[in-house]
Amino acid sequence: DKGAYPFYMLKEIDEQPAVMRKLVQEYFGDHDDPQIDENLIKAMADADHIYIVGAGTSYHAALVGARIFERLCGIPTTVHISSEFAYEQPLLSKKPFFIFLSQSGETADSRQVLVNVNAHKWPSLTITNVDKSTLSREATFTELLYAGPEIAVASTKAYTAQIAVEAILAKALGEYLGKDAAKKFDVKHQLGLVANGMQSITDSKKEIEEVAARYLSKPRNAFYIGRGLDWSVSLEAALKLKEISYVQAEGFASGELKHGTIALIEKGTPVLGIITQDRTAGLTRSNLDETRARGANTITIVSRHLSQEDDTIILPDVDECLTPLLSVVPAQLLAYYTSLGKGLDVDKPRNLAKSVTVQ
Ligand code: F6R
Repeated sequence: DKGAYPFYMLKEIDEQPAVMRKLVQEYFGDHDDPQIDENLIKAMADADHIYIVGAGTSYHAALVGARIFERLCGIPTTVHISSEFAYEQPLLSKKPFFIFLSQSGETADSRQVLVNVNAHKWPSLTITNVDKSTLSREATFTELLYAGPEIAVASTKAYTAQIAVEAILAKALGEYLGKDAAKKFDVKHQLGLVANGMQSITDSKKEIEEVAARYLSKPRNAFYIGRGLDWSVSLEAALKLKEISYVQAEGFASGELKHGTIALIEKGTPVLGIITQDRTAGLTRSNLDETRARGANTITIVSRHLSQEDDTIILPDVDECLTPLLSVVPAQLLAYYTSLGKGLDVDKPRNLAKSVTVQ
């Protein structure tokens, strides 16, 4: 039931702080460290390479998770689109471990990869929102997202829950492996900060609605740009805008723009820069300046400690690994309000189904 909400998507965006708190409760209880099946951690620790597989938004959550696994656990981690991996499997390491990300647990493309993985008896974990779903039953291990039913076709709270669960797992695995980066990463405390941060962003809907009306309601195309984790979020931000507001949007590595695609920038093209990573903040700002010099309307989504006077949307500060959990929220809201402003059916965009059970 969507209660007083006009659309499920807005309700689900607003539920994200509660989902973060629920995950802390489910995975930590009264403990300081994540309570995760020891057999799962041992199986992952035994791997020489982690492969994360997903489609759409789940693929985007995998891109963020891979960086977190590498930073905290020191295990090479690569990400694959399930529909590609199923039929064009790359050469694999000797001891692979597979993680399947799927909100529904029913995506046919991802299931096909799991069928291949099981044929080789490789160990796997499905992270899903749906208990006893196909992918959850067929993997070696399974963990839940605890996000509650996601009704809107455009995924929001499942994406942030996926990243949070990946971070919790990376913390547990990194600690088990004795990694300093993992020991220092207080994920329980950080997810509390994230929940509060999400709350403060969803409390400033009015400002975000104004940004959408001013910059995104008319143009036919738009760009989200960023580097590293900000690039990963750019892909998800662009997908949200495309699927519900039908603005042709592209998520781009900000340094790559000048190698060709900048030719598409014209007067009034919206370019949204996501800036949350210390090492690359200045570079992305320069890349935004380059687009502004060619007529773009630049909009910034920036972590507070990196912010400047004329930034558009300011995010509360959290650990650098977890900034995607905050930077995606204004992007979800921008997509929502752009769609709403055009009078579209936010929850049921054309041509799309919630669960894609064909290959
Ligand atoms: C986009 C979206 C889709 C799904 C994709 C995978 O908002 O919802 O891109 O993320 O179809 O679905 P799951 O996660 O159920 O495997």
